[in-house]
Amino acid sequence: MAIKSLSDLLAEGVEGRGVLVRSDLNVPLDDSGNITDPGRIIASVPTLKALAEAGAKVVVTAHLGRPKGEPDPKFSLAPVAAALGERLGRHVQLAGDVVGTDALARAEGLTDGDVLLLENIRFDARETSKDDAERLALAKALAGLVEAADGTPGAFVSDGFGVVHRKQASVYDVATLLPHYAGTLVDTEVKVLEQLTSSTERPYAVVLGGSKVSDKLAVIENLATKADSIVIGGGMCFTFLAAQGLSVGSSLLQEEMIDTCKKLLETYGDVIHLPVDIVAADKFAADAAAETVPADQIPDGKMGLDIGPESVKRFSALLSNAKTVFWNGPMGVFEFEAFSAGTKGVAEAIIGATGKGAFSVVGGGDSAAAVRLLGLPEDGFSHISTGGGASLEYLEGKTLPGIDVLEA
Ligand code: 3PG
Repeated sequence: MAIKSLSDLLAEGVEGRGVLVRSDLNVPLDDSGNITDPGRIIASVPTLKALAEAGAKVVVTAHLGRPKGEPDPKFSLAPVAAALGERLGRHVQLAGDVVGTDALARAEGLTDGDVLLLENIRFDARETSKDDAERLALAKALAGLVEAADGTPGAFVSDGFGVVHRKQASVYDVATLLPHYAGTLVDTEVKVLEQLTSSTERPYAVVLGGSKVSDKLAVIENLATKADSIVIGGGMCFTFLAAQGLSVGSSLLQEEMIDTCKKLLETYGDVIHLPVDIVAADKFAADAAAETVPADQIPDGKMGLDIGPESVKRFSALLSNAKTVFWNGPMGVFEFEAFSAGTKGVAEAIIGATGKGAFSVVGGGDSAAAVRLLGLPEDGFSHISTGGGASLEYLEGKTLPGIDVLEA
């Protein structure tokens, strides 16, 4: 069955109707609780705005970070409620609990066009429970918040693309209870990933970075037979360099993955490209003394924090011919200026390819944040996804429970 979309729900009419929306508002915060990258909030606005403007009573559920299944002020959605209200141009109430007395009272008091954000859904341990009955109980409580006084059920709009790979109460179970629709964000993201996988124009270049090889293993295995080149930077490149027998000093290393990387290099050595030079430092700090060294000469006691300029040049040459590009994971510690040139250089090469007609997708998480924090033009890419893990799992060929359930 085809997935119903927000426009189908709007066509049915939502005035005065309770609509539960699962958004992904999991934004990074600094130590003082300030939002450092509002990308996911901005991306969540169109669906919420359309519903509020159509007169729905909108109840939004979302998570922030990974609290341990109980209230923890550090993970409160309070800063998000304020920022969302500003972006929406209307007041967003924040409930003091998830599905407790305050949430219930506020939900009952909603008038047409009001927006209520529930407190962090992960303050309730049932959200991420492996026990189906526990998750269903929470989903029922969520559905209850949008039920009309006469018992007419509300509707559910799944718009948190970044969580559709999670089989959780607010993502999956609630869709089994309520008439369900994909929000505009989920709709757009899925269409882009479908285009990336089904009508991939060659050459297809994949750029992978980030700290852990283990997170990217499945995607490397899946894309190695589809892509023409996979360029690897970031913390994960050191495990590959170690697999080539090189000494990586005190760089990030996943020793238990060295054998796996060796096998990947043996099988896909013609597709995988590693850095040839590295920016190394004596400590992990913004003001660390940096030096560029060949990748096979990382001094003992020094750690690689970025790929070097020669690597950027070689990676850029591969990217400049590409017709399709997928990028997930920064090339270095881009948050520190001294170690941001690798990520910036590779991003600029992707922007260049996009300018020449390539279809480019930035796969969420840190790489999406890097685009904004480094001041790169967001419209230089065909699409910047809000889902890191979700887009990777899609490209790994896995079923995404939060999408699958919308088809039923
Ligand atoms: C993300 O940050 O990728 C999403 O918000 C999902 O968060 P999670 O990995 O904690 O489930």
